[in-house]
Amino acid sequence: MSQRLRKVVFPVAGLGTRFLPATKVVAKEMLPVLDRPLIQYAVDEAVDAGADTLIFVTNRYKHAIADYFDRAYELESKLAQSGKNDLLAMVQGTLPRHVRCVFVTQPEALGLGHAVLCAKPVVGDEPFGVVLPDDLIVNGPTGAGRPGALRQMAELAASENAGVIAVEEVPRDQTNKYGIVDATPVSERAAKIKLVVEKPKPEVAPSNLAIVGRYVLPGRIFELLEKTTPGAGGEIQLTDAIESLLSEQSVLAYRFEGTRFDCGNKLGLVKATLHMALEDPQLADATRKFMASLANR
Ligand code: UTP
Repeated sequence: MSQRLRKVVFPVAGLGTRFLPATKVVAKEMLPVLDRPLIQYAVDEAVDAGADTLIFVTNRYKHAIADYFDRAYELESKLAQSGKNDLLAMVQGTLPRHVRCVFVTQPEALGLGHAVLCAKPVVGDEPFGVVLPDDLIVNGPTGAGRPGALRQMAELAASENAGVIAVEEVPRDQTNKYGIVDATPVSERAAKIKLVVEKPKPEVAPSNLAIVGRYVLPGRIFELLEKTTPGAGGEIQLTDAIESLLSEQSVLAYRFEGTRFDCGNKLGLVKATLHMALEDPQLADATRKFMASLANR
């Protein structure tokens, strides 16, 4: 996979049940961390990795994501007329001009693997990224110029000619919430995957290295997904197709540089919000004071 990463898939067709009732009408990916929705952080990371084609796998209820990246003519002309140029730049700056969005529908929520497969007609036979927006990954303060997780992975995929999957060490008692890899270290942050197990109990987990929401995969994965039968929970699992890929080519587990917030659950979203508030010069002091006041409760 020495090709440059151009296409990134965002599977956003899940039901988001952990945020009901809000997710009855608000897509989980539109939940904000401070003033930006989760999907904006994910898109920024993909653009940072070099992507120019963003493929959103949505369901029929998630028009808000398309609307968000579309032009908002009325709002923009009002902001322009009233000279609010900073806000205008912000509204127009959700997506760089050279980047295009493609929307694909997943007719039924049949699992992450199935959602990725829905992007096949747009991706074709080239390496591509997958970003799950509810895993928010930050690497240093905004604007500090440190590479995002997907850029780190794309560079490794190109130099090693391999698939790359982001992993993170998790507490042993949580292995049953993740895909877990068994891998042989090849460098400080990378390890060659021998085996992937979906949600193993702690006593049988081969390690505590958990797969998190970033992947760089070859186009070949689509053919393997087509042959994948429903696994755990009746869903077509991406990890099952990755397991098949292992017998054909090298796939690396990569411990990215950065901090991940699992914003697919409430506590993760709270932590991400506090983290971002502490990074924001206008909010940091007041947030720190507020957090200190909570310590006595
Ligand atoms: P989750 O396991 O977080 O499921 O999916 P979910 O439906 O989004 O949320 P909960 O668990 O009900 O609260 C992981 C990612 O895979 C996508 C989701 O949108 C999310 O980005 N996904 C999952 C799909 O696109 N389609 C599916 O069929 C399943």
